Amino acid sequence: MEIIIAASPKAIASIVADAIEDLLTEHAGTVLGLATGSSPLSVYQELIRRHRDNGLSFAKSRAFLLDEYLGLPRAHPQSYHSVIRSEFVDHIDIDPTHVYSPDGEAADPVVEGQRYDAAIAAAGGIELQLLGIGTDGHIGFNEPTSSLRSRTRVKTLTEQTRSDNARFFDHVDQVPRHVMTQGLGTISEARHLVLVATGEAKAEAVAAMVEGPVAAICPGSVLQLHQHATVLVDEDAASRL
Ligand code: GLP
Repeated sequence: MEIIIAASPKAIASIVADAIEDLLTEHAGTVLGLATGSSPLSVYQELIRRHRDNGLSFAKSRAFLLDEYLGLPRAHPQSYHSVIRSEFVDHIDIDPTHVYSPDGEAADPVVEGQRYDAAIAAAGGIELQLLGIGTDGHIGFNEPTSSLRSRTRVKTLTEQTRSDNARFFDHVDQVPRHVMTQGLGTISEARHLVLVATGEAKAEAVAAMVEGPVAAICPGSVLQLHQHATVLVDEDAASRL
């Protein structure tokens, strides 16, 4: 696992955008793994800037999202389907129909999970997967005790994650209790995992992920088993390493 301690979210964004730009230059049809949450926002802003100012093109690429709330219609502004569009997809030239996410309204979520994993595999797998980490160590929506080889499936959010995510809703009661997320096994199949964490609130989770035991209680620790994982943190998020 490669750990990069950078001076600011902007510095992190520039390193990650370089890696994504290199992939797109090498292979315009690169399959990207996108994440929602505040952590990757500066990366998206930098990629949008490069698209606008330097002509960086995503026109031939495809992208898979990590996770989705169950029961929220796709058109809901807080569905991850909507969020990734308003924060990134709508500002670049990727074909929005080539940006996939689990269907949180699928009649049979078990079948939907299997379909989603099969779609990723059929696309040739994910080249670079962006990740954030929750304060309890979750990645995607794989909460503590998630199996390290799990596949895309339904999970129940912890109260901590619901309260962390309540800021996006009017009230914590509106945060869905259930989600569909790529499993830790699914995520681990991406060829390069790139996790971004900034701020003191993430320091404990980052220390557990990087220096703690590989264990389901800290889902992020699965990165220790990956052949090509890069963790980019600022000084605050690195403060307990
Ligand atoms: C959410 C998302 C994760 C994200 C995490 C941290 O629950 N499902 O993909 O990494 O929370 O979010 P943030 O980056 O806003 O701190």
